[in-house]
Amino acid sequence: MPLSFRLSEMIMSLWVPRAIYAAATLRIPDVLATGAMRSDELARAIAAHPAAVHRLLRGLVLLELCAETADGAFELTSLGDCLRSDSSDSVRSWALLMGSPGVWRARGRLADCVRTGEHAWKLEGADVFELMQDDPEGAAIFNQAMLELTTRAARAVVAAYDYAGLETIVDLGGGYGTLVAAILAAHPIMRGVVLDRPHCQAGAERLIEEAGLDDRAEFVADEVFDVVPVGADGYLLKSVIHDWDDERSLAILRNCRAAMGKRARLLVVEPLAPERLGSSRFDTIVVASDLNMLVNTGGQERTEAEFRTLLEAAGLRIARIVATRGAMRVVEVLPT
Ligand SMILES: C[S@@+](CC[C@H](N)C(=O)[O-])C[C@H]1O[C@@H](n2cnc3c(N)ncnc32)[C@H](O)[C@@H]1O
Repeated sequence: MPLSFRLSEMIMSLWVPRAIYAAATLRIPDVLATGAMRSDELARAIAAHPAAVHRLLRGLVLLELCAETADGAFELTSLGDCLRSDSSDSVRSWALLMGSPGVWRARGRLADCVRTGEHAWKLEGADVFELMQDDPEGAAIFNQAMLELTTRAARAVVAAYDYAGLETIVDLGGGYGTLVAAILAAHPIMRGVVLDRPHCQAGAERLIEEAGLDDRAEFVADEVFDVVPVGADGYLLKSVIHDWDDERSLAILRNCRAAMGKRARLLVVEPLAPERLGSSRFDTIVVASDLNMLVNTGGQERTEAEFRTLLEAAGLRIARIVATRGAMRVVEVLPT
């Protein structure tokens, strides 16, 4: 195959996330979950253009989200099932977030971000988390997308790390509190606090109630850059430090250090970027996430050495790094 053909394929590959986004937006997987349908039947069910629906379905067949039956109907595959809104392994909100106009606009400015080192929102005088304050719908998609990703990661993080001896754990920038709820479910005498901005409050309180954790968990609306609550023996930062540049990350870590008593532990849960890139699926995920941070938040994925430097500057040190069966690592951090 000529190399230019291979490159052209990569250039054209933008149809993949767009087709997934379209399917998620039109709720095609939810409708097909009720049974196989011909494209014209599906078009009627979702009030869309029959021939165009047929063309999208063919794309979804290529992506193995759907399969075409012998009589020309389309059915959902187990991969397509993950795009259903009520799947226990759903990534529908993640698809909606990654395909949203804001994310695409930011992605479109990658070259400007590389030229300047600034994230796309900053180039437009904005900040993605500030924008969420005034955009409840966008914030809900973001928070639900984080819930989806963290639900999977939480199983691995709960299984991998020994939480024995911790009485109270504070999940800083904890979103809806997915991780802390999973930890509390596995440790019946532990208490938990989810600290995040007000756009997470309703969702976090709902999750706490549905998990039956009202008597052991609470949501606190606050800023990680202001002050971190004292008195806990465990602090969690999952997928938070990677959102920020070194200066802002250091501010969060110094706040943690100031709140931590001598016996407190900080658990930083992130994938560690490899010193040298290989070609594994994990390396691909880390690079994709790193470029996402470059355009969307101004943060980055960091190597173990980069974490050590940052933590030392905040008066903290890595006690150990626990691998999980997923991409995440649990970096156990203690005061120096
Ligand atoms: C990438 S999400 C991670 C959420 C959660 N820890 C998880 O892994 O599912 C980053 C979180 O940081 C929160 N955040 C951003 N700025 C914050 C601030 N200044 N104070 C508190 N939380 C903040 C966001 O609202 C968001 O929930």
